[in-house]
Amino acid sequence: MKRVQLTAANSGQSQHKYLVILAEKDGLDRLNDDMLLPAETSFLRQGVERDVSNFFFPRAEGCVFVRLLKKESDPFAAGENARMAGNELLRDLRQYKIESVALRNTCADNRSLAFAEGLALGSYQFLKYYSQAGKKEKNLREIAVEGASETDIAELNSLLNAVFLTRDMVNEPQSHLNAVQLAEAVESAGKQYGFEVEVLEQHQIESLKMGGILAVNRASSVPPRFCILEWKPANPQNKKPVVLIGKGVVYDTGGLSLKPTDGMDYMKCDMAGAATVVGVMTAAAGNNLPLHIIGLIPATDNQIGERAMAPGDVIRMYSGTTVEVLNTDAEGRLILADALHYAKKYDPELVLDLATLTGAAVRALGTQVICYMGTAPENVKRDLEQSGWATYERLVELPLWKEFGEELKSNIADLKNIGSGNAGMITAGKFLEHFTSEYPWLHLDIAGPAYLRTANGYRTKDGTGVGVRLVYDFLKKHYAEK
Ligand code: BES
Ligand code: ZN
Ligand code: ZN
Repeated sequence: MKRVQLTAANSGQSQHKYLVILAEKDGLDRLNDDMLLPAETSFLRQGVERDVSNFFFPRAEGCVFVRLLKKESDPFAAGENARMAGNELLRDLRQYKIESVALRNTCADNRSLAFAEGLALGSYQFLKYYSQAGKKEKNLREIAVEGASETDIAELNSLLNAVFLTRDMVNEPQSHLNAVQLAEAVESAGKQYGFEVEVLEQHQIESLKMGGILAVNRASSVPPRFCILEWKPANPQNKKPVVLIGKGVVYDTGGLSLKPTDGMDYMKCDMAGAATVVGVMTAAAGNNLPLHIIGLIPATDNQIGERAMAPGDVIRMYSGTTVEVLNTDAEGRLILADALHYAKKYDPELVLDLATLTGAAVRALGTQVICYMGTAPENVKRDLEQSGWATYERLVELPLWKEFGEELKSNIADLKNIGSGNAGMITAGKFLEHFTSEYPWLHLDIAGPAYLRTANGYRTKDGTGVGVRLVYDFLKKHYAEK
């Protein structure tokens, strides 16, 4: 299906059949006489006095929508407000089956790009498996943003495209996206968008002795994969690469520590971290981000079966550390640990992992927040949090105090893979930290916001693509623009 494209249109001049004017209550004077008829202007002013904020003026051909945006002194709230308003416009566009609109800004701060972003993100649909997908399709094709620069539009198009790719991957069920198919999807994204991909197969993973990945994969009928993605432009701003790692559990049954049906129906989303890494690489390559970035994706499913690892087993990780596996459902940390150890060979500037890692993160903080922790310096954390506000993919930091690590002591091996049960997102973080000596590190537990049962504005239901806009913004502002 064809996805929406943004285009740049001339300021205030587009002869579009369907025009959307963004306005604010105390800036109505900025609506020129040629935008509305005198009768419409007075209708608008009367409505605004009564706190009406959506207007619709039919024309002989097409129509004009006026959307009043609330004034916000906080620029982050203003951006989010515009994105949400953009998403709300969709209802009307769908009702009238409008496929192409022009946006004209009359707000004091230009909010049309954010409005267009919300409108575009909200219009996403995943219809692949409907026999009559065409009938369900309500797609918007074009948003012409008046006065926007071609560069801003191209960047936003490529970022949106990356979010859509990530959502598509997360929404794809394991029946159609197992670990081997995931690696193939990564390879084809690399070819299409211009980053390099190398895929390690089972025998290579075995000869490297990546014991975490192999243990999780043991009961599977599909071999594991380890994908290495690289975007290396000429003259990157960073001497040492930034490494992104994504949890690629294509399906998590829990293993022998089997999940109940209620939690399992969700678990095709357990590769959302991996899909986010693919999305960020796609956006970086698509926009020629002057930054050397490596992506690592350990991919497998977590299955039951007579060959499955069992609670009580001891495994030896790629780093040499031995782990007593007391719960086979705590599998994400086992495959991530091997990738975190692998990352050391790049002598990275920063390693950032993204994972749908714990139910504890969801229970504690819900779906609006990414739980994060790590050993990276304060300025890196503050910039990441700023990007969280800018993209409204917000984060909250949790502590990695050493006391939490005490819970991972095993009386048979170097570590056990679960803590006491309390603060599970932190003990998971402490487990990962064990494999991250030698470089600054950030861990983003996206289990809450990565997958939604019901839509939240432009965060459409199912895979949200969370993390793509956040990490792209962070990489760009923290490294590329300095
Ligand atoms: N994939 C799950 C975490 C998850 C839960 C992701 C809900 C998305 C939504 C992870 O592998 C898991 O099962 N974690 C366990 C760990 C526990 C056994 C220590 C959990 O959090 O319950
Ligand atoms: Zn699990
Ligand atoms: Zn999992």
